[in-house]
Amino acid sequence: MVCVNERATKFQPTLRLPQPEARLWKERRLAMDILKPRVVPMNRRRRIYEGKAKVLYEGPEPGTLIQHFKDDATAFNAQKHEVIDGKGVLNNRISEFMFQNLNDIGVPTHFIRRLNMREQLIREVEIIPLEVVVRNIAAGSLSKKLGIEEGTQLPRSIIEFYYKNDALGDPMVSEEHITAFGWATPQEIDDIMALAIRVNDFLSGLFLGAGIRLVDFKIECGRLWEGEMMRIVIADEISPDSCRLWDIKTKDKMDKDRFRMDLGGLIEAYTEVARRLGIIVEGERPASNGPRLVQ
Ligand code: TMP
Ligand code: ASP
Repeated sequence: MVCVNERATKFQPTLRLPQPEARLWKERRLAMDILKPRVVPMNRRRRIYEGKAKVLYEGPEPGTLIQHFKDDATAFNAQKHEVIDGKGVLNNRISEFMFQNLNDIGVPTHFIRRLNMREQLIREVEIIPLEVVVRNIAAGSLSKKLGIEEGTQLPRSIIEFYYKNDALGDPMVSEEHITAFGWATPQEIDDIMALAIRVNDFLSGLFLGAGIRLVDFKIECGRLWEGEMMRIVIADEISPDSCRLWDIKTKDKMDKDRFRMDLGGLIEAYTEVARRLGIIVEGERPASNGPRLVQ
């Protein structure tokens, strides 16, 4: 039955449904609203966590988060800090590429999809408070600590664990510390090491094809709960911020060591990594925020 609302103009007819049908429609509309992904304006999103190079926001659905890549670069436990225009955009793209490829070969990660230039949708995981470093060639802290010349091929890939704690400067820890203090169980350590080796094999081959040597890298892992079931997945990011990447021919550094060692040319190096992997195409403008208001 269609009747005309007397107070409205006759061009706005109101559809009056019999009571049970009206209730049904209302329920359907409510269900549709629940199913619709929520679009929350940037400035009204709930910030869950802010790290040195990334921010985590509440995601559009339960169990999801939005990972936002900032332009901040830090080193030596944030004693050195700079904002490098465009770094976040490059790391978002490079990390998306790594995680999507890992997902595709069956290495579980937190990554769902990239949302925009700086953000990706990820699954909410319980981060295990460890930085897992895999080394193929001696460099960085390993060379310093053990006096092994940088560039020396290691007899086999080495996995190290660091306890994620800024106040303590992320100290190196053993499996004994990890299990005794309950940061991860022996079974979880086995899973983490197996994942780390798979990531190392896959990334080493991927970079080799692009004329880049994967010297070492750091990953973080998380517990992903699916009902009663839990599995360990790769979380955080994989980018030139968290890897050591050397050009095979020239040995040029193409990673965050350019910032750590004041070598300059970080954006050019990250752009070259993305270009060689086919992530950005020839002629694509290196990412930037565009003109900035100088105050
Ligand atoms: P290291 O030689 O300084 O111990 O670094 C090993 C790897 O871990 C290297 O690829 C850089 C990466 N890394 C991070 O991603 N975050 C950190 O805080 C540190 C110290 C290293
Ligand atoms: N990300 C670390 C920091 O700023 C250090 C590093 O990457 O070298 O503390």
